[in-house]
Amino acid sequence: LGLKKEVNVLCLGLDNSGKTTIINQLKPSNAQAQDIVPTIGFSIEKFKTSSLSFTVFDMSGQGRYRNLWEHYYKEGQAIIFVIDSADKLRMVVAKEELDTLLNHPDIKHRRIPILFFANKMDVRDALSSVKVSQLLCLENIKDKPWHICATNALKGEGLQEGVDWLQDQIK
Ligand code: GTP
Ligand code: MG
Repeated sequence: LGLKKEVNVLCLGLDNSGKTTIINQLKPSNAQAQDIVPTIGFSIEKFKTSSLSFTVFDMSGQGRYRNLWEHYYKEGQAIIFVIDSADKLRMVVAKEELDTLLNHPDIKHRRIPILFFANKMDVRDALSSVKVSQLLCLENIKDKPWHICATNALKGEGLQEGVDWLQDQIK
């Protein structure tokens, strides 16, 4: 039977980090968009794994829309947080947004799994996932399961490892 557990996932991270490109890669090829444009507000997407049916809130990362994120925190059962590993100048902004997320009352006391994608690993001079993890101080996250993967969303590299981890956290 095709009955899979339904899970709401929030896809967060700065604009241009690659959130929509990643979610698009996780969809079956016949459902994939050909060209991806910056998200306005947010978009609801779906993809399935062997045991789960994910509904993704693909949020816009643009500054003017980031205040929308918190309205969906209560519904989220998992978080995918995407970082542009090549955007060194804005790593501090990504950290600020992550810290705001982690301190939000709807997130702070929950054991919600967080999957970090250190995306754009194909870009010359991109930071390693270890370096991104250090700059975001991920080792300070003690009360939630988290995992970081280096990804190239253009080719889909690294995504499966992350999704497998997420599925293991939830099932
Ligand atoms: P917002 O919707 O504005 O928040 O952005 P987003 O995080 O959804 O980013 P989006 O998926 O629209 O990708 C932004 C740009 O980065 C696009 O031009 C993508 O093709 C490009 N991009 C995404 N992932 C990668 C990657 O792994 N490597 C490279 N080189 N480019 C990428
Ligand atoms: Mg987008």
